[in-house]
Amino acid sequence: MTVSTKTYISELKNHIGKQVTLAGWLYRGRSSGKIQFLIVRDGTGLCQCVAEKGKIPDDTFDQLKRLGTESSLIVTGLVRADERSVGGHELALTDAEVIAHADGYPITPKSHGPDFLLKHRHLHLRSHRQWCIGKIRHTLVDAIRRFFNDNGFTLIDTPILTAMAGEDKQSLFEVDYFGDSVNLTQTGQLHLESAVMSFGRVYCFGPTFRAEKSKTRRHLTEFWMVEPEVAFIDLDGLLELSENFVSFIVAHVLEKNRAQLEILGADCARLEAIKPPFYRLTYTDTVDILTGDKTKKFLAGQLQDLKTQKQQTEARIAKLEKELAGSVKQWKKDKIAAELIDLRTDLAEINTRIENNPKHAKLAADFRWGKDLGGSDETIISMMHDKPVFVTHYPKNAKAFYMKTDRDNDKVVLNFDMLAPAGFGEIIGGSTREEDYDLLVSRIEAQGLDVQNYDWYLDLRKYGSVPHGGFGLGVERTIAWLTGEKHIRQCIAFPRMTDKVNI
Ligand code: 4AD
Ligand code: MG
Repeated sequence: MTVSTKTYISELKNHIGKQVTLAGWLYRGRSSGKIQFLIVRDGTGLCQCVAEKGKIPDDTFDQLKRLGTESSLIVTGLVRADERSVGGHELALTDAEVIAHADGYPITPKSHGPDFLLKHRHLHLRSHRQWCIGKIRHTLVDAIRRFFNDNGFTLIDTPILTAMAGEDKQSLFEVDYFGDSVNLTQTGQLHLESAVMSFGRVYCFGPTFRAEKSKTRRHLTEFWMVEPEVAFIDLDGLLELSENFVSFIVAHVLEKNRAQLEILGADCARLEAIKPPFYRLTYTDTVDILTGDKTKKFLAGQLQDLKTQKQQTEARIAKLEKELAGSVKQWKKDKIAAELIDLRTDLAEINTRIENNPKHAKLAADFRWGKDLGGSDETIISMMHDKPVFVTHYPKNAKAFYMKTDRDNDKVVLNFDMLAPAGFGEIIGGSTREEDYDLLVSRIEAQGLDVQNYDWYLDLRKYGSVPHGGFGLGVERTIAWLTGEKHIRQCIAFPRMTDKVNI
């Protein structure tokens, strides 16, 4: 057999009734005497290959029977359309060749805990879930570039090694730079503010680093952020740009990756509704909502729903445990064991949410004007909405030095966060920038930063300063929102977290 004429699984639809050769890995196999069902994956999809005794050489049939998960192989057979089959096609094998045996592949269908899978990320990337997420990420990144490239933006590659803090000083990663201390970039924004005065509309897209001590499902220490910056724009213009941008990328992912979204259990109907205009709230409106009756009632209703979910999940677990204790076939046992692990993970999540509900209710009720919104506050607001929500005009003292002070109310800045719906929380942070030289100097000083480090940044306000602004969208958070993944570490191939840089 030769791989030079191989077909990809994604192209099988063009070969129905014909003989093809596929090259890939054994995803999973099942045998019942004279017939074997081998699910093969080749990087473009999955295909069920059927080996029938007598239709392929006997020694090959026996070899396939003993073949371990993730062995690599080349198979030849006749393509049949079969709706029930994974991927919609089936291959009736006439021949097969094992390229390399894999014995004792550590990841089994029995499912494993998150720590085990993270330790085995180099192999877990081959799982169908990780594959689906990787395909969605690829489309998302393409859509992001497409949107800005097609709308007059110029790509600027901003540096990763920087001398100054762009965001919170606590989350800087220091690097020894020939005896000097520099940082890994927290944002490309400050450099974009220079470039935008040359190009008018610019964006950067790259890895971003934050030494976040907090271990949450929304934080990585290395993540990817796209940041557009526009000259001559106000806050309304920025909100409009970002809702058009997010609607575009969501539509693009739906168009290209609906199948993967469905496999991951994403709510495609809700994603279809992501169209402008998004909801607009000021920070002050948000404080009123959090401390008001609406939130109290909402959280009480949610607690009730969680308790019902808990009962249902516990009942299902008890039923499956009983089934498992009886006499069932091995493949059925594996299937039940895998479902049980998922259900127990769900149950743990439900229990945590039941435990957190009163804490979050208290945090919301006690919220006072002036603080930044916490993760739980964002979750509450975003759960109350079916489309993304803009929260604008945050208190100046809770935000970064570069944000422009509202000339009508100097306690707030002209900024916004975009909260993804259904409890997901912030995916975009953005603002208009302080364009006045003196006001900017006083903001840098007020935040305890060294004005000398900002020399070149201040120059931009000396030579033809204009109203300008932009925002940053986190890629992993966006994928987690779109796919419904609970933790953003699933949304990048090799995640970096406070306690993990293992692979
Ligand atoms: O809100 P942030 O900190 O905004 C900025 O960095 C601005 N300088 C952007 C700009 O105006 N050009 O971060 C923007 C987004 C967040 O909304 C979130 O999606 C993501 O970046 N993000 C993180 N994603 C994963 N892990 C982290 N630790 C993140 N911190 C921020
Ligand atoms: Mg932010």
